[in-house]
Amino acid sequence: MGKDVIVACDFPSAEKTFEFLDKFEGRKPFVKIGMELYYAEGPSIVKEIKKRGHKIFLDLKLHDIPNTVKKAMSVLSSLDVDICNLHASGTIRMMEAALEGLTREDGTRPLLIAVTQLTSTDSESMQKDLLINEPIDKVVMHYALNAKKAGLDGVVCSPLEAGKVHSVCGSDFLTVTPGVRFADGDIGDQKRVMTPAQAKIEGSDYIVVGRPITAAQDPVAAYERCVREFVD
Ligand code: C5P
Repeated sequence: MGKDVIVACDFPSAEKTFEFLDKFEGRKPFVKIGMELYYAEGPSIVKEIKKRGHKIFLDLKLHDIPNTVKKAMSVLSSLDVDICNLHASGTIRMMEAALEGLTREDGTRPLLIAVTQLTSTDSESMQKDLLINEPIDKVVMHYALNAKKAGLDGVVCSPLEAGKVHSVCGSDFLTVTPGVRFADGDIGDQKRVMTPAQAKIEGSDYIVVGRPITAAQDPVAAYERCVREFVD
């Protein structure tokens, strides 16, 4: 898969999601379904969006004992999603079990990527709450390497970290990066942001863009602008 723009469909219902997706008559965007929408609508929302011809990143960030994650991944694999994810902090063994569960009988499987440290976790909370005393960027790179050792395809990270992840884990290791804003747009609650064009220069493979597209007056035009800046 080449570079692409993934639209974060952070909507509370199928109705709102389809109202949004119906606007796209040309190119069908790669869609991210997160916990809010999946927990509201269940597997049917995945099947329906897939049937409409969209690729899907199912962002459920699994984290449990290896056996439970393996079985849950095998269910997600049968939903025919294109990318799914888990927390790297669940250990290498959990990530290996996840890959096993995800792999279908014919050997095919969705891509599997890991969340390293959430961008909402800063150095202070990592040290005080989690008793992790290493610098945060060292932790992120260590978790990325663990994901690679376990056989995963890449990580979710900030576009600011994409270049370093590629230099540590190899250029084929995917970087999927949220925190993207247009140069003239609202930052909202994201702290460290980059434009689609900057994320491209940093070497990000997929950008995940939510509100700059979903809350735009003309979402299709905003999506096309992202594609122009990042892909073309
Ligand atoms: O609206 P916005 O462009 O900020 O949406 C970004 C999407 O990426 C949201 O679905 C958010 O949950 C997700 N995300 C993030 N930062 C992370 C991981 C996921 O913003 N570290």
